[in-house]
Amino acid sequence: MKNNKVALITGITGQDGAYLAEFLLKKGYTVHGLKRRSSLFNTDRIDHLYQDPHAKDQKLFLHYGDLTDSLNITRIIQETQPDEIYNLAAMSHVQVSFDTPEYTANADGTGTLRVLEAIRLLGLTEKTRIYQASTSELYGNSLISGNKIPGAQQPGSQNSASQQSESQPLEAMLNEQSPFYPRSPYAVAKLYAYWITVNYREAYKMFACNGILFNHESPIRGETFVTRKITRAVAKIALGMQDKLYMGNLSARRDWGHAKDYIRAMWLVLQHDTPDDYVIATGTTTTVRDFITKAFAEVGLTVGFTGTGANEKGTIIASEKTEYNHLIHQEVVAIDPRYFRPTEVELLIGDATKARTVLNWIPEYDLDGLVKDMVKSDFRLMQKEKFLKENGFNTLNYFE
Ligand code: NAP
Ligand code: GDD
Repeated sequence: MKNNKVALITGITGQDGAYLAEFLLKKGYTVHGLKRRSSLFNTDRIDHLYQDPHAKDQKLFLHYGDLTDSLNITRIIQETQPDEIYNLAAMSHVQVSFDTPEYTANADGTGTLRVLEAIRLLGLTEKTRIYQASTSELYGNSLISGNKIPGAQQPGSQNSASQQSESQPLEAMLNEQSPFYPRSPYAVAKLYAYWITVNYREAYKMFACNGILFNHESPIRGETFVTRKITRAVAKIALGMQDKLYMGNLSARRDWGHAKDYIRAMWLVLQHDTPDDYVIATGTTTTVRDFITKAFAEVGLTVGFTGTGANEKGTIIASEKTEYNHLIHQEVVAIDPRYFRPTEVELLIGDATKARTVLNWIPEYDLDGLVKDMVKSDFRLMQKEKFLKENGFNTLNYFE
């Protein structure tokens, strides 16, 4: 497809950056990506897009950089003169943000200011549109604190497991008008990024937009986010490579979509006539526990949960495949309180009516399709690992 547009993606090596780069290249964009220097290669997710810098018609360019370095950001924006910037780079793990709060504020909060201010100082306010990766974490526990959800845990109370909820649409959903109540250093940093984006739009008439994206996952999701941790473990347990999965709060509920659908929404946000902020979500919320159940079901295993709180356990109670019969009665899920968060977000569910009607955004995956895609991919990955191990080769050991 012919296209003269130039895009700059910060965070191109991450889950969303990788899918977005592929999507924009297919649309004919020239894509520049900001990549952190790392002591190991960190380009696994975009290696299939790599183009030899000596080749003619190169469309993908990587630049070393970091959102904490304003000189570097300003130079790259000046050199690349982008029509669109997708600011996806962030320290994106909520639990890790409690360990690295200052760095998170710098990268996720002030980092956004650096990008916006660079556009302004370089005189690009009329040329460059900017998408800011805002998050449903901004809402934190605002649904619960508004007492809209009976039986949900109140902010400030201890983590506890309750067996009540499964996948369900709820009447009260979060939209562009809902109040924010951030519950982690990550969310507080992103709150600054959200408002500075709005402020630059209003103060300098910039085409600056927030996509308030609810959780989105995929086979290339980072291994320490809950869905990927689960799908990797399910594959390993089925293949006899792991005994048990240690988890935190099983009762947390999230509105999980597929990253492929969500990066399309990012692009649509910047193609609209006017800059604005949009919620991107599926409108269905599911407990972590239910995600585990669905993931085991993908390999033909039924898991049952007993007990509460830190004593809750998940045990295999049935198998559709005789090859997994030995797993029946095996305890495959246990709680490790170190995965409980100092302050938890108990419930997220979003209403994307505005994006659906104004942007004509239509997601293609539902939760079952997402789980299927992730389990299938991790099962294949673990089959490969198993094959290598059985044939005397070392494989990478990832620990959290
Ligand atoms: P991800 O997989 O963790 O990717 C984050 C990217 O940011 C990686 O490329 C990472 O580089 C880069 N990065 C981190 N710190 C940086 C810094 N200081 N300077 C430059 N680059 C830096 O996250 P994701 O899931 O793709 O999410 C993309 C964005 O959307 C993030 O801002 C996230 O907070 C936000 N978001 C995500 C979700 C979701 O459910 N996925 C929902 C709402 C909002 P390395 O590869 O070198 O680590
Ligand atoms: N990571 C993790 N590991 N989470 C666990 C575990 C565990 O062992 N056990 C339970 N959980 C619960 C967490 O406490 C949380 O309530 C939920 O699972 C989801 O956790 P994550 O997958 O780590 O994602 P998140 O919701 O905290 O944050 C993600 O989504 C945000 C959008 O709402 C990240 O992608 C953020 O960057 C993003 O902004």
